[in-house]
Amino acid sequence: MNSRAILATLIVFHVSLFCMESQSDLTLADFTPLITRHQIADRVKKLGQEIDTYYCQHSPLPLVILAIMNGATLITADLMRAIELPIELQHMQASSYGENGTEAGQLTLFGLDRLKLEGKHVLLVDDIFDTGVTITRIKTELLKKNPASLKSLVLLHKVGKSKVEEKPDFVGFPIADQFVIGYGLDYKELYRGLPDIWVKK
Ligand code: IMP
Ligand code: MG
Repeated sequence: MNSRAILATLIVFHVSLFCMESQSDLTLADFTPLITRHQIADRVKKLGQEIDTYYCQHSPLPLVILAIMNGATLITADLMRAIELPIELQHMQASSYGENGTEAGQLTLFGLDRLKLEGKHVLLVDDIFDTGVTITRIKTELLKKNPASLKSLVLLHKVGKSKVEEKPDFVGFPIADQFVIGYGLDYKELYRGLPDIWVKK
């Protein structure tokens, strides 16, 4: 990290500590940087090229990026700018974490009804593949809408934790089984805006 990046990180760190301490059990002091914004930018650029290469064979059918909110917010915004093919953006919401913020609870899906996927190539984009239950459940629902194809891309893949046969088709970074925040990932809905990815100590 250069000195400007270190300074920016320290400012975010102190502002977060000051503002969030009373609202949640964990603060940024409980986390340490894992993947920098520069590493993310490099990888997203390459993912954009991989997707262009893969989907250009299917032209001229439309490619739909289906963002799973809220976790996929930042990866979607950056990925869309790294893909050269024309893309259509649609989104839906999945909510799975319970009150404690670091363990999965009941999975609820919103916004399935208004998706228009029939005959389109669909790339599902999510922040992280942990047990794989969320993506498997979403894919089951999306297949009922008869897309021309259905693939998944995740920023992070917690390798070895999967409870399902399904695997993500495109992966940003494989990581160990640790709790992470930043670049879209939250702890109790906080910290999604951190430009780097941080891991719980
Ligand atoms: P899965 O169904 O177990 O694959 O979990 C997927 C969802 O859980 C993701 O879309 C995230 O919203 C959330 N999740 C899993 N691991 C983490 C983490 O380490 N940090 C923040 N959210 C996570
Ligand atoms: Mg989440």
